[in-house]
Amino acid sequence: MRSLKGRDLLSISDLTRDEIIHILEVARLFKTRYYAGEKIIPVLKGKSLAMIFQKPSTRTRVSFEVAMYELGGHALYLNWNDLQLGRGETIADTARTLSRYVNGITARVLRHLDLVELAQYASIPVINALSDLEHPCQALADVFTIWEKKGKYEGIKIAFIGDGSDNVLHSLLLACSKLGINVVIATPPGYEPRPEILKSAEESAIRSGSTIDIIRDPENAVKAADVIYTDVWVSMGQEVEREKRIRDLSRYRVSLDLIKLAKGDVIFMHCLPARRGEEVDNEVIDGKWSVVWDQAENRLHVQKAVLALLL
Ligand code: CP
Ligand code: NVA
Repeated sequence: MRSLKGRDLLSISDLTRDEIIHILEVARLFKTRYYAGEKIIPVLKGKSLAMIFQKPSTRTRVSFEVAMYELGGHALYLNWNDLQLGRGETIADTARTLSRYVNGITARVLRHLDLVELAQYASIPVINALSDLEHPCQALADVFTIWEKKGKYEGIKIAFIGDGSDNVLHSLLLACSKLGINVVIATPPGYEPRPEILKSAEESAIRSGSTIDIIRDPENAVKAADVIYTDVWVSMGQEVEREKRIRDLSRYRVSLDLIKLAKGDVIFMHCLPARRGEEVDNEVIDGKWSVVWDQAENRLHVQKAVLALLL
């Protein structure tokens, strides 16, 4: 396995199966020690992380900032529009400048290509904190949560209900197909995953022996599912399409009736924030199936592993 030190994390495709497993094992170590009372493990003492946000965030921002603090380092929250970026300084010049001050950059951007450009000109690791294409840190925390709750990856069936072209789903699909988790996506026509993501996931699935199915019918998708996952119907930046998306996706709500069709010990996952009453009903997200708060907490432990290994 190549060392992760100095590498970027823009996409789950940047990681091999063994590298993902290594990150998750390190995350488990951090979590175990956290619960043993050892919150502060200063492996990044003296290091700084610039966190650029072009869109709002609760979990990603707070978990990265707290992770840096608990690793002995420092995090700077930088709103895109408060930087000179907002006044037209180029991404390349911003990357070159930040590389002289800090040891890593995490960025949440509207356009994935801007992230690629940032990484191209930065001489330090760049981590994707969500783009229109992917959300790799979320997917790592998600497969970690599945491992924690189900004790394995291979043979697990996850049913994703909703927008099949969702950034969170893209990363989850890439991660699951590397780890041998079977994925069924129930989505309407026109909402399928982006072709380049699907192609890459299909290649991984062949190697891991897992399956990927894209179907229309949510009831069929959840049959024998170990995990049901959904995300919002209208992602950040898609607000102008709101009415059409709600119309197209209204059949893809995770309701009590739907979850009862899955396995008895099915778990419900959502990256959050949720639009309660749209993609998920209160009875589900607040019900016995829901692991969404553990899932949110795991962002902290998994990002500690990512930061410790990359920086
Ligand atoms: N899941 C997630 O990334 O949440 P935030 O948008 O609150 O960071
Ligand atoms: N798909 C959602 C995820 C938020 C964490 C969005 O991009 O808004």
